[in-house]
Amino acid sequence: MANELFRTKKIDKILRDAEMMAEDPHAGAGLKRVLTMRDLTFFGIAAIIGAGSFSSLGMAVFSGGPGVVVLFVICGVACGFTALCYSEFASRIPVAGSAYTYAYASFGELFAWIIGWALIMEYSIGNIYVAFSWSDYFTGFLQRMNIHIPDYLTCSYMEAHGAVLSQAANASAQVTESTKELLNAWASAPVIGGLRIIFDLPALVINFCITALVYRGVKESRNFSNAMVVLKLCIVMLVILVGGYYIFHSGLTANWHPVNAAGEKSFMPNGFTGVMGAVSGVFFAYIGFDAVSVLAEESKNPQRDLPRGMIASLVICTVIYIILALVLTGAVVYTKFENVGDPLAFIFEPQNLDVAWMQVLVSICAVVAMTSVLLVFQMGQPRIWMSMSRDGLLPPVFEKIHHKYQTPSFSTIITGLIVGIPILFTDKEFVLDFTSIATLFAFVLVCGGVLLIPTKEKTPGKFNIPYINSKFIFPLIIVAAFMMALILDKQYFSNLFSITEDNASYNVSNIVFWCVMVILSGFAYMKNWSLIPLLGLSTCLYLLTGMTGTNWAWFGSWLVLGLLVYFSYGYKKSKLKTA
Ligand code: ALA
Repeated sequence: MANELFRTKKIDKILRDAEMMAEDPHAGAGLKRVLTMRDLTFFGIAAIIGAGSFSSLGMAVFSGGPGVVVLFVICGVACGFTALCYSEFASRIPVAGSAYTYAYASFGELFAWIIGWALIMEYSIGNIYVAFSWSDYFTGFLQRMNIHIPDYLTCSYMEAHGAVLSQAANASAQVTESTKELLNAWASAPVIGGLRIIFDLPALVINFCITALVYRGVKESRNFSNAMVVLKLCIVMLVILVGGYYIFHSGLTANWHPVNAAGEKSFMPNGFTGVMGAVSGVFFAYIGFDAVSVLAEESKNPQRDLPRGMIASLVICTVIYIILALVLTGAVVYTKFENVGDPLAFIFEPQNLDVAWMQVLVSICAVVAMTSVLLVFQMGQPRIWMSMSRDGLLPPVFEKIHHKYQTPSFSTIITGLIVGIPILFTDKEFVLDFTSIATLFAFVLVCGGVLLIPTKEKTPGKFNIPYINSKFIFPLIIVAAFMMALILDKQYFSNLFSITEDNASYNVSNIVFWCVMVILSGFAYMKNWSLIPLLGLSTCLYLLTGMTGTNWAWFGSWLVLGLLVYFSYGYKKSKLKTA
């Protein structure tokens, strides 16, 4: 049985199957090869810059202060190494399917399934967060235009219920504007059969529109997406320029060194723990560069353009994020960002920089930016399912390509339902954590996968990850990192072992992290592993230490559910078994 669980798909076979699919006249032909490197870079940016920068950045800044910039750098580095690993795989296996296909070739079927299952979190569940954020900005924009949608149609049931419960538990607490809206949603909602009708209508509508667009075809979607990316980049630049101007013009640079609890000026007022507390929100902002890899079968020269597109989009976005985080924390003192869901518009509000026209522009931009994120992820999910279905791990209907539009039609509709239905009964924070942990997990497996596939000769015109022997360098880096932690915080080691209820998940995951690093150093020494994927693996593992015990519990349950599905269908129907 173990052999069957870890049966791998040979890279040659993956490529042959994809070619046969493309040539088979009965399969409705393959996907159309229309995307260039520029399109792929645009797709990357379209997927990356969205709800992370426009929405979750607010709470990230509140948690980490100006020091959250350090986390953006760490996440950028982790994603950079991971992008190189994705690129290596994408140039070897230029077919749709992303990390799922790569895991099939390296770790075997069980891990491939687990990754495919985890990617549902990244693509579909992540889109729920984006749809909620889209709705927040959209309704805010309408309000500025004096158009008011009833509160019970602009928030989720869970959010409104949560607000009522916390209000009841702490009646004397100060009620913010957004909490007032949630309480009003609860109070004014129509009741049918004892159930209050509260749901996020704009989030549902945008999900429906995006699903319809993706169903219609990639060419139309590409043009739409490219136009939105240009607009989004222009307005983000404007936020940076106008915000930056006010920071220096109004002498606000002291905000970069706010006073911490001990009364000292500090770049990291809540310490490094506060910075790491923002990991879900910051990492979410980076998710998306990997979505480029699912477009392998629609790109003209995937082996050359996928790696370039992925890395170019990541570099551009990393620079933008670092500057954006500095602008935000310079414009307004970080403590004001508590529960702020529209931070980029917030800094221009009257009590802050007071630039009314920027508030309106940013609201429009946010709606545009998040529309393009929704589009890219909604296109990515069906393509992963299509690959899984080709391998027999999902029913054949998932690989069905529409005869006229040449898109994976059934999978596209199911994606729309998986995003749409939970909009009715989940809330933003829950899906944010869920998405980030699952995506990091998939990244860990992709980097690990590169360490396992056999090295190959360099081929001109194709991407090759540079090989640097990690034998001595990696153990040295780990020792240096540990020493650095001790220099920055002399109590680091003793604090790690004084576990309390509050710090338990952070401390335990850090202890596990260092143990894993020691083991990896041993492997690096013995097996002469390639340094870049090893650093990708280590940095992604480090980011996972920022996840809470609750995140792990939910993610674990999701994986168990996935295994049940696998053993009841894919394990029996896998083409590797039935071939
Ligand atoms: N990075 C994407 C966003 O921020 C998921 O919306």
